[in-house]
Amino acid sequence: MLVFLNGEFLPRSEANVSVEDRGFMFGDGVYEVWRVVNGRLFESARHFARLEHGLRELRIGTPEFATRVGLTGIAERLFAENGLLDGEATFYVEVTRGAATRTHSFPPPGTAPTVFAMASRFVPPEAVRATGATAITIADVRWLRCDVKTLQLLPNVLAKQAAAERGAIEGLMVRDGVITEGSHTNIAGVLDGEVRTHPLNNLILPGVTRAVVLELAHDMGIPGREEPIAERDLPALAELFLLGTTSDVMPIVKVNDITIGNGVPGAVARRLQQAFRAHMDASCAHAIA
Ligand code: PDD
Repeated sequence: MLVFLNGEFLPRSEANVSVEDRGFMFGDGVYEVWRVVNGRLFESARHFARLEHGLRELRIGTPEFATRVGLTGIAERLFAENGLLDGEATFYVEVTRGAATRTHSFPPPGTAPTVFAMASRFVPPEAVRATGATAITIADVRWLRCDVKTLQLLPNVLAKQAAAERGAIEGLMVRDGVITEGSHTNIAGVLDGEVRTHPLNNLILPGVTRAVVLELAHDMGIPGREEPIAERDLPALAELFLLGTTSDVMPIVKVNDITIGNGVPGAVARRLQQAFRAHMDASCAHAIA
């Protein structure tokens, strides 16, 4: 596998990052994950905008390699050289504040940010998407800037591991009695005939899938409401689903011991799955950027 690191295209085994990299030392950086269909970046503009937002908020700035033009060129070469010009893949980008002697405050001016990119084959989880999956709830112990896609994913790692140990696909994080999001997904439910999802604020990542699905629901005449789902609302939900780049629309049929709706993927989730797939295929039939 060929990857990109700081201006070079290298075999993965030869791509080395300094032990003093601030991503390694402090989680001081951001990342982004795109879905790729037939060598094309899905919803590229939204992902680039989120990456730039994170780099701005962390005051890293946007290094040349991490601009939209720079990364689009890198992506094209990685897809071509890794045999990913057809079928499904993901494109992962990580930017850290660079490598410097360890001290908490920013490194000396001129320290070059580290820019890493890789493209990997992706197999969509079709079978589980058709049957629905289970989830658990877990306390949301994260910081108060969850809108920034930082490398600091320890609470997310622990939430996903807790779910896996209980045979579940996702940990639904609960803060002050409401479901914020999953370890690597946004959450939506159907309550009183409306698609409900947490509003955009500092407590969730502004998910690209979430935005696309809300638009599709609107176009399909399915009412949407950006209001949190309370944990105590779970038994009353008709449907629940995860939204994310590697999940698309993933129905959840059980949370802890609570059966959601009829215990099978609901009609709204199935309609949104189909609309999402059609939108992804149609938009990836055009030019890469
Ligand atoms: N995760 N919330 C969190 C905490 C996430 O990490 C993600 C994405 C999402 C969904 O966002 P989007 O629809 O833009 O993928 C929500 C990526 C896929 C990951 O960490 O691998």
